[in-house]
Amino acid sequence: MLVKELKHIELNTEAIRKDFPILNRKINGMPLIYFDNGATSQKPQQVIDAVSNYYSNTNSNIHRGVHTLSREATEAFENARKVIAKHFNVKSDQQIIFTAGTTDSLNMVCNGLARSVLKQGDEIILSSYEHHSNILPWQLWAQENKGQLKVIPLNADQSLDLNAIENLISEKTKIISIAHVSNTLGLITDLDKIKIIAKKHNLILVVDAAQSAPHMAVDLEKLDVDFYVCSAHKIYGPTGTGILYMSEKWLSKLPVTKPGGGTIKTVSFEKTEYADGALRFEPGTPNISGVIGFAAAINYMDQFGMDAIYKHELELVNYAQSKLAEIPQVMLYGKSNDKAAVISFNVKNTHPFDVGTLLDKYGIAVRTGHHCTQPLMNLLCVPGTIRISFAIYNTKTEIDFFIEKLKKVIDMLK
Ligand SMILES: Cc1ncc(COP(=O)(O)O)c(C=O)c1O
Repeated sequence: MLVKELKHIELNTEAIRKDFPILNRKINGMPLIYFDNGATSQKPQQVIDAVSNYYSNTNSNIHRGVHTLSREATEAFENARKVIAKHFNVKSDQQIIFTAGTTDSLNMVCNGLARSVLKQGDEIILSSYEHHSNILPWQLWAQENKGQLKVIPLNADQSLDLNAIENLISEKTKIISIAHVSNTLGLITDLDKIKIIAKKHNLILVVDAAQSAPHMAVDLEKLDVDFYVCSAHKIYGPTGTGILYMSEKWLSKLPVTKPGGGTIKTVSFEKTEYADGALRFEPGTPNISGVIGFAAAINYMDQFGMDAIYKHELELVNYAQSKLAEIPQVMLYGKSNDKAAVISFNVKNTHPFDVGTLLDKYGIAVRTGHHCTQPLMNLLCVPGTIRISFAIYNTKTEIDFFIEKLKKVIDMLK
C-alpha cells in the first residue's frame, strides 16, 4: 500500500468516536482506552441498532417460510450476503458462506480438503506466525494421516522468509495456509509472492484474514486465492459469525462436511441431493442477527472506505512504535513501517501480565500473553508479549496517555 497515494483521505475520529457508546465508559474511574481490537473490536450504534431492530421487528427463521416475518428475515439475511460480497469484490454472492467465524471456517476448509484432496503422507505449509486456529485443524489431520506440517521460518527482523518456501515444497505438498496479517506482530504477508509460488506448484492457497479484513481493502477477485476466511467481531460486527469465501471452482467441488437442515435439495433414507451454492455449507439455523449486524458493520466501514481506515491506523502504528522505541526498557517485536494495526512488545525484566494489569488501573485495555501463537512465542523465546492493536476510533492522544502511563508502570515495576 502506498501511503503517499492515500494522503488526501482523512477520518473524522472525533465524530466516529460518538458512534461507539462503550467509549463513554469509565474503567477504574478513568476514560476507557481500548487497545485490544485484535481480540475483538467495539461495535458502533449502527450495528447494535441493526441487531436490536432485527429482534424487535423481524425475528423469524429464514429460508422456506412463506409468512411475512420469515420473508423479511430471509431478505435481510440474503441482502447481507450481497453487501459482504460487494465489499470484498466477489463475483457471486454465493461464494460468501456464513460460518461461526474464522476458526469455524478454517475447520470447514481443512475437513473438506481432507475428504477430497489430501492423501496419507501429504504436506501442508504454514507460517511461523500462525494463530492456533490455523495450525490445529491441519495438525489433527496430519497426526491421523501420517501427514506433515512444514513451517516458513522467520528472518532476523522477524518478517517471514519467503525465499525459504521453495525449499519446503515436495511432490507431497498440497496446501499453503497462511495468515494475511500476523495477529501478534501485525506484519503483512506478501500474498502476491506466495500466490506465484502456489500457482507454480499447483498448491491450494488458504488465507486467514482475521487480522487483515478489519484494516485494509481486500479485492478477492484480484487476490484470486482458493479460500479466504474472517470473523465479523473483529470488523465492528457481532460475535459468533464470519465468512468462508471460496473460489468458484470449490463451490461445487468441496465436499459437505457439516450436513444438516438447509443444506439440501432433496432427502430420502437412501440418498440426499445437496443444494448448490452457499446453502450447501450452511447447516441448521444460522446466526441470523449476527449476519445482519455483520452487514451493518461492513456498511459502516464502507462509508469511510478501507483506504482511509488503513491510513489512519498506519499513522497510529508508526506513531506508537516510534514512542515505544524511545523507552529504553521496551523491546519491540516485528518492527516495520508498513504493517496492520498491531504492535507487540515487552518490558525488560517484567512479566507482560503485570504490565497489563497495571495499565488497566488507568483504564487502558491491552492484551497480554501468547495471543494463541505459542509456536511464535517459542521462536521469540518469550512466554508472551504485551499487544496493543488499533481501530478506527483510536487516537494519538490516547497513545500519548498510554505512553505516559506505561512509563509510570515501568517505574513501579523496577
Ligand atoms: C489471525 C487469526 N486467526 C484466527 C483467529 C480466530 O478467530 P475467531 O476466534 O474469531 O474464530 C484469530 C483471532 O484472534 C486471529 O487473530
